[in-house]
Amino acid sequence: MSSRCVVLVGMMGAGKSQVGRLLAENLGYDFVDTDLLIVKRAGKSIPRIFSEDGEDAFRVLERAVIAELARRQSLVIATGGGALLDEANRRVLSALGHTVYLKASPRELYLRVKNDRNRPLLNVPDPQGELRRLLDARAPLYEKCDIVVDTEDIGTDEVVDLLIDELAKRTIETQME
Ligand code: S3P
Repeated sequence: MSSRCVVLVGMMGAGKSQVGRLLAENLGYDFVDTDLLIVKRAGKSIPRIFSEDGEDAFRVLERAVIAELARRQSLVIATGGGALLDEANRRVLSALGHTVYLKASPRELYLRVKNDRNRPLLNVPDPQGELRRLLDARAPLYEKCDIVVDTEDIGTDEVVDLLIDELAKRTIETQME
Protein backbone atom coordinates (compact mmCIF):
# COMPACT_ATOMS: atom_id res chain seq x y z
CA MET A 1 0.00 0.00 0.00
CA SER A 2 1.03 3.58 -0.58
CA SER A 3 0.80 6.02 2.31
CA ARG A 4 -2.17 7.87 0.83
CA CYS A 5 -5.17 8.13 3.15
CA VAL A 6 -8.46 6.37 2.56
CA VAL A 7 -11.45 8.69 2.99
CA LEU A 8 -14.85 7.10 3.59
CA VAL A 9 -17.93 9.08 2.67
CA GLY A 10 -21.64 8.36 2.45
CA MET A 11 -24.88 8.80 4.29
CA MET A 12 -25.64 8.25 7.95
CA GLY A 13 -25.85 4.48 8.40
CA ALA A 14 -23.52 3.74 5.49
CA GLY A 15 -21.10 1.99 7.87
CA LYS A 16 -18.22 4.47 7.55
CA SER A 17 -17.06 4.14 11.17
CA GLN A 18 -17.38 0.36 11.38
CA VAL A 19 -15.75 -0.24 7.99
CA GLY A 20 -13.14 2.43 8.73
CA ARG A 21 -12.00 0.87 11.99
CA LEU A 22 -11.63 -2.58 10.49
CA LEU A 23 -10.01 -1.33 7.29
CA ALA A 24 -7.48 0.70 9.29
CA GLU A 25 -6.62 -2.37 11.36
CA ASN A 26 -6.08 -4.39 8.19
CA LEU A 27 -3.94 -1.76 6.49
CA GLY A 28 -1.97 -0.93 9.65
CA TYR A 29 -3.21 2.66 9.40
CA ASP A 30 -4.56 4.90 12.16
CA PHE A 31 -8.31 5.48 12.15
CA VAL A 32 -9.87 8.93 12.45
CA ASP A 33 -13.58 9.72 12.73
CA THR A 34 -14.27 13.39 12.04
CA ASP A 35 -17.49 13.31 14.12
CA LEU A 36 -15.46 12.15 17.14
CA LEU A 37 -12.90 14.92 16.56
CA ILE A 38 -15.78 17.44 16.52
CA VAL A 39 -17.26 16.06 19.75
CA LYS A 40 -13.85 16.26 21.39
CA ARG A 41 -13.30 19.82 20.16
CA ALA A 42 -16.77 21.02 21.23
CA GLY A 43 -16.77 19.11 24.51
CA LYS A 44 -20.32 17.95 23.84
CA SER A 45 -22.27 15.40 21.82
CA ILE A 46 -23.45 15.99 18.24
CA PRO A 47 -27.14 16.22 19.30
CA ARG A 48 -26.14 18.88 21.85
CA ILE A 49 -24.07 20.84 19.31
CA PHE A 50 -27.10 20.87 16.96
CA SER A 51 -29.63 21.79 19.64
CA GLU A 52 -27.56 24.37 21.52
CA ASP A 53 -25.47 25.92 18.71
CA GLY A 54 -27.25 24.92 15.49
CA GLU A 55 -26.23 23.02 12.35
CA ASP A 56 -24.18 25.94 10.99
CA ALA A 57 -21.95 25.87 14.09
CA PHE A 58 -21.54 22.11 13.62
CA ARG A 59 -20.48 22.67 9.99
CA VAL A 60 -17.89 25.26 11.06
CA LEU A 61 -16.37 22.73 13.47
CA GLU A 62 -16.50 20.05 10.78
CA ARG A 63 -14.63 22.27 8.33
CA ALA A 64 -11.98 23.07 10.98
CA VAL A 65 -11.25 19.45 11.90
CA ILE A 66 -11.11 18.40 8.24
CA ALA A 67 -8.75 21.28 7.39
CA GLU A 68 -6.41 20.04 10.12
CA LEU A 69 -6.20 16.64 8.46
CA ALA A 70 -4.71 18.11 5.27
CA ARG A 71 -1.46 16.48 4.21
CA ARG A 72 -1.71 13.67 6.78
CA GLN A 73 -0.73 10.21 5.54
CA SER A 74 -1.62 6.58 6.26
CA LEU A 75 -5.00 7.31 7.84
CA VAL A 76 -8.41 5.83 7.27
CA ILE A 77 -10.83 8.72 7.74
CA ALA A 78 -14.58 8.31 8.36
CA THR A 79 -16.37 11.56 7.55
CA GLY A 80 -19.84 12.74 8.62
CA GLY A 81 -22.55 12.28 5.99
CA GLY A 82 -22.70 16.00 5.17
CA ALA A 83 -18.96 16.68 4.93
CA LEU A 84 -18.84 16.73 1.13
CA LEU A 85 -21.44 19.52 0.94
CA ASP A 86 -18.65 21.97 1.66
CA GLU A 87 -16.29 22.80 -1.17
CA ALA A 88 -13.25 23.32 1.05
CA ASN A 89 -13.86 19.91 2.63
CA ARG A 90 -14.13 18.30 -0.80
CA ARG A 91 -10.79 19.81 -1.80
CA VAL A 92 -8.95 18.68 1.34
CA LEU A 93 -10.48 15.20 1.36
CA SER A 94 -9.83 14.42 -2.30
CA ALA A 95 -6.22 15.63 -1.99
CA LEU A 96 -5.68 13.33 1.00
CA GLY A 97 -6.03 10.14 -0.99
CA HIS A 98 -8.55 7.58 -2.19
CA THR A 99 -12.14 8.67 -1.68
CA VAL A 100 -14.63 5.84 -1.13
CA TYR A 101 -18.41 6.10 -1.26
CA LEU A 102 -20.20 3.48 0.83
CA LYS A 103 -23.55 3.29 -0.90
CA ALA A 104 -26.93 2.01 0.35
CA SER A 105 -30.61 2.76 -0.28
CA PRO A 106 -32.67 5.03 2.01
CA ARG A 107 -34.61 1.98 3.23
CA GLU A 108 -31.44 0.07 4.15
CA LEU A 109 -29.91 3.18 5.76
CA TYR A 110 -33.08 3.67 7.77
CA LEU A 111 -33.02 0.07 9.03
CA ARG A 112 -29.43 0.56 10.16
CA VAL A 113 -29.98 3.83 12.05
CA LYS A 114 -33.56 3.66 13.27
CA ASN A 115 -32.67 2.87 16.89
CA ASP A 116 -29.85 5.38 17.07
CA ARG A 117 -30.58 8.69 18.82
CA ASN A 118 -27.25 10.28 17.90
CA ARG A 119 -28.37 11.78 14.55
CA PRO A 120 -30.21 15.06 15.02
CA LEU A 121 -31.04 15.40 11.30
CA LEU A 122 -33.18 12.27 11.58
CA ASN A 123 -35.11 13.52 14.58
CA VAL A 124 -38.10 14.26 12.32
CA PRO A 125 -41.53 12.61 11.81
CA ASP A 126 -40.42 10.74 8.65
CA PRO A 127 -36.73 9.79 9.01
CA GLN A 128 -36.75 7.45 6.02
CA GLY A 129 -38.19 10.19 3.81
CA GLU A 130 -35.55 12.56 5.16
CA LEU A 131 -32.80 10.06 4.32
CA ARG A 132 -34.20 9.84 0.79
CA ARG A 133 -34.31 13.63 0.45
CA LEU A 134 -30.74 14.07 1.78
CA LEU A 135 -29.44 11.24 -0.40
CA ASP A 136 -31.06 12.71 -3.54
CA ALA A 137 -29.30 16.01 -2.85
CA ARG A 138 -25.93 14.46 -1.98
CA ALA A 139 -25.67 11.51 -4.38
CA PRO A 140 -24.07 13.56 -7.22
CA LEU A 141 -21.23 14.49 -4.83
CA TYR A 142 -20.84 11.00 -3.38
CA GLU A 143 -20.82 9.38 -6.82
CA LYS A 144 -17.71 11.36 -7.80
CA CYS A 145 -15.59 9.33 -5.36
CA ASP A 146 -12.69 7.27 -6.72
CA ILE A 147 -14.27 4.02 -5.48
CA VAL A 148 -17.98 3.28 -5.05
CA VAL A 149 -19.00 0.21 -3.02
CA ASP A 150 -22.60 -0.95 -2.94
CA THR A 151 -23.04 -2.09 0.68
CA GLU A 152 -26.76 -2.86 0.39
CA ASP A 153 -26.54 -6.64 0.82
CA ILE A 154 -23.08 -7.21 2.24
CA GLY A 155 -21.61 -7.02 5.73
CA THR A 156 -18.69 -5.02 7.11
CA ASP A 157 -16.12 -7.80 6.61
CA GLU A 158 -17.01 -8.18 2.95
CA VAL A 159 -16.90 -4.41 2.33
CA VAL A 160 -13.44 -4.30 3.90
CA ASP A 161 -12.22 -7.25 1.77
CA LEU A 162 -13.51 -5.55 -1.38
CA LEU A 163 -11.78 -2.33 -0.46
CA ILE A 164 -8.47 -4.00 0.31
CA ASP A 165 -8.52 -5.62 -3.16
CA GLU A 166 -9.53 -2.38 -4.87
CA LEU A 167 -6.89 -0.31 -3.04
CA ALA A 168 -4.18 -2.88 -3.80
CA LYS A 169 -5.05 -2.72 -7.53
CA ARG A 170 -4.82 1.05 -7.50
CA THR A 171 -1.47 1.00 -5.70
CA ILE A 172 -0.03 -1.42 -8.28
CA GLU A 173 -1.39 0.71 -11.14
CA THR A 174 0.18 3.84 -9.61
CA GLN A 175 3.54 2.07 -9.21
CA MET A 176 3.45 1.02 -12.87
CA GLU A 177 2.76 4.54 -14.18
C1 S3P B 1 -24.59 14.23 9.36
C2 S3P B 1 -24.09 12.97 9.62
C3 S3P B 1 -23.55 12.59 10.93
C4 S3P B 1 -23.03 13.82 11.67
C5 S3P B 1 -24.10 14.88 11.76
C6 S3P B 1 -24.58 15.32 10.37
C7 S3P B 1 -25.14 14.51 8.01
O1 S3P B 1 -22.48 11.67 10.76
O2 S3P B 1 -21.89 14.33 11.04
O3 S3P B 1 -25.17 14.34 12.52
O4 S3P B 1 -25.26 15.69 7.64
O5 S3P B 1 -25.44 13.53 7.28
P1 S3P B 1 -22.67 10.14 10.29
O6 S3P B 1 -22.77 10.15 8.79
O7 S3P B 1 -21.42 9.47 10.75
O8 S3P B 1 -23.89 9.62 10.95
